[in-house]
Amino acid sequence: MELQQNFSLKHYNTFGIDVSAKYFALFTSVDELAELLNHASTLNHLNPKLLNPKPSNLILGGGSNLLFTKNYDGLVLKNELKGIQKIHEDETHIYIKAGAGENWHRFVLYCIQHNYAGAENLSLIPGNVGASPMQNIGAYGVEIKDIFHELTALHRAEKKIVTFNLNDCRFGYRESVFKNKFKDQFVITDVTYKLNKQPKLNTAYGAIEQELQRMNIKDPGIKDVSDAVINIRRSKLPDPAVTGNAGSFFKNPSVTNEQYTILKENFPEMIGYALPNGFTKLAAGWLIEQCGWKGVRKGDAGCHPKQALVLVNYGHAKGTDIFDLSEEILQSVKQKFNVVLEREVNII
Ligand code: FAD
Ligand code: EPU
Repeated sequence: MELQQNFSLKHYNTFGIDVSAKYFALFTSVDELAELLNHASTLNHLNPKLLNPKPSNLILGGGSNLLFTKNYDGLVLKNELKGIQKIHEDETHIYIKAGAGENWHRFVLYCIQHNYAGAENLSLIPGNVGASPMQNIGAYGVEIKDIFHELTALHRAEKKIVTFNLNDCRFGYRESVFKNKFKDQFVITDVTYKLNKQPKLNTAYGAIEQELQRMNIKDPGIKDVSDAVINIRRSKLPDPAVTGNAGSFFKNPSVTNEQYTILKENFPEMIGYALPNGFTKLAAGWLIEQCGWKGVRKGDAGCHPKQALVLVNYGHAKGTDIFDLSEEILQSVKQKFNVVLEREVNII
């Protein structure tokens, strides 16, 4: 267990924001994590400024869903809990447990290689297994909740290991209990997924069908669907290795069906998807584009020219530059449509 001081986080967040952590350490086992958490509370006492209201430690996965707006004045704990193993099998399903520090896409490829179905639509999402339940990651018609079995997490204060099943996690659209009721209380240490032995392909998302046709595939398997998703993602989303970003900066907002009807009268081109609960989900990318932000650059902070929902760092933007741009976008969408966007990215 090595504790580093004034550690640069530039290569530990996909926005590529150049900030540092007062303290930084990797953990490769749950015991090591518990020891580091104890150490963090000792550091806390030495530096009372770090006590409330925010916790003095940050669990870091791949850093692909956060924006650092300042140096982190505490201990950053980088999750390196590894391992992928089959733990159970029944007639229809295979149960695979993965360490929270495993790379998510590597896990998806493992499933495809073994012909375990269900994760293929979630190909190429950056980040780690441990963060996948945090916001119930989703893409192309599938969310983690669809293949989730259970997870294990360490309670940060009590150092108690707790198991959460599907119901306990309270998954919603980019939501879970870990972002709300239990925010900053647990460290997810492993996740068990329930994969199908018999693939039930989900190609309902229009772009997948189109891409499979373009690839000239008539009878697709899970690898084909994964390849199609990878192609679509590569054509739309900036590669963080080239241009700093954290995927969609905002969530797609929901409005009541009544509000949608009024909006549609004023903006007939508006895109909306009816939800089962009397609400309609709007496309935040469309709203932002209509406000004229697509492709706008302010210094090194920008709104991506191909996907207005993605904010980018062209090189040396500060976290506050990106945040300020997001605030301007949020205000203009509110003014034009009376719709309040919510940030998906975690602001640190
Ligand atoms: P981090 O950014 O490291 O952490 C995110 C949050 O979770 C932080 O608050 C962190 O403290 C907390 N956290 C991380 N690990 C743990 C743990 N083990 N225990 C407790 N707390 C933890 N997301 C989607 O849902 N769908 C997409 O299609 C998608 N596309 C993307 C495309 C691009 C190009 C990029 C850059 C991002 C995209 N994202 C997408 C967002 C991101 O990839 C996911 O949210 C991912 O799950 C974040 O994983 P991470 O390991 O990088 O988390
Ligand atoms: N659109 C525009 N202008 C834009 C961007 C999008 O008009 O600049 C329109 C598109 O034409 C389309 C609609 O908005 O009609 C939706 O766009 P897209 O299919 O690209 O998806 P999205 O809603 O922008 C969501 C997720 C992504 C996920 C994709 C695919 C959220 C916040 N984002 O994006 O997730 O990969 O769908 O399922 O739900 C992420 O969370 O970081 C992320 C990338």
